[in-house]
Amino acid sequence: MKTILIHNQKGGVGKTTTAANLAAALARRGAGPVILADLDPQMHLTAVLASGQAPRLTAADWIAGHPGAAIAVAGEPGLTLVPGFPRPLAITALPPDACNWRVLDSSAHWDDSLACLARSADMVLCPLEPDFLGLSGANRLLQTLQQQGAAEDRVRFLICRYDQRLAIHREVRARLEARLAGRLLPFVIHASVRLAEAPGFGRTIFAHAPRSSGAADYARLAEALCGAEPRKRRAER
Ligand SMILES: Nc1ncnc2c1ncn2[C@@H]1O[C@H](COP(=O)(O)OP(=O)(O)O)[C@@H](O)[C@H]1O
Ligand SMILES: [Mg+2]
Repeated sequence: MKTILIHNQKGGVGKTTTAANLAAALARRGAGPVILADLDPQMHLTAVLASGQAPRLTAADWIAGHPGAAIAVAGEPGLTLVPGFPRPLAITALPPDACNWRVLDSSAHWDDSLACLARSADMVLCPLEPDFLGLSGANRLLQTLQQQGAAEDRVRFLICRYDQRLAIHREVRARLEARLAGRLLPFVIHASVRLAEAPGFGRTIFAHAPRSSGAADYARLAEALCGAEPRKRRAER
């Protein structure tokens, strides 16, 4: 089982979008079962993927080890969602789960629970926007992770909302490549109206616009993460 924590200390950079669509992409390529946990008290993921449902159990129950918190996501076979809890969670460890992948959506607020998650996750995946705030935010995030003892080699950055036509995006991408070296994933999530509208329909990009660039981009991310898995296993042996 692999646990991917999606985090950035900046809001609005694509954390929730990446959590939902990466988890769906993993499940759709048969890499499941996949658990998607909403660990942000703002509960955006829950509002999008569990709208109309009244879950009895939440992320707080899941963290406490109560079975049965995860609910099936409509239209996404192999994907279950642990619905959010409207207050910050005190996380000291994650519960064991019978799944292949866990994708954790987090808030922008760094606290002890996030430090614990960052230390225990197999990967901390940090979406960022290719502007100058994104650049300085990436440095700050690496510093925070260093200070908290999270293994930096497990941190990966993903440029989101990329527009090749914008000089600032091309420039910041080049700077990030130089500064983050192997920690920056070698592909991007392009800016896409389809990605922005999918939450309004309560859907992932694969249910909303399966032939869009957003669907192709998140499928590529899932492929890259799955592709990295056997190589890592061999290296561990
Ligand atoms: N690649 C993208 N293209 C266009 N809009 C996007 C993209 N990624 C995210 N968005 C939109 O940007 C806003 C913030 O994204 P979100 O995933 O909620 O960020 P966060 O969870 O980091 O706060 C949302 O309205 C979302 O639909
Ligand atoms: Mg969010």
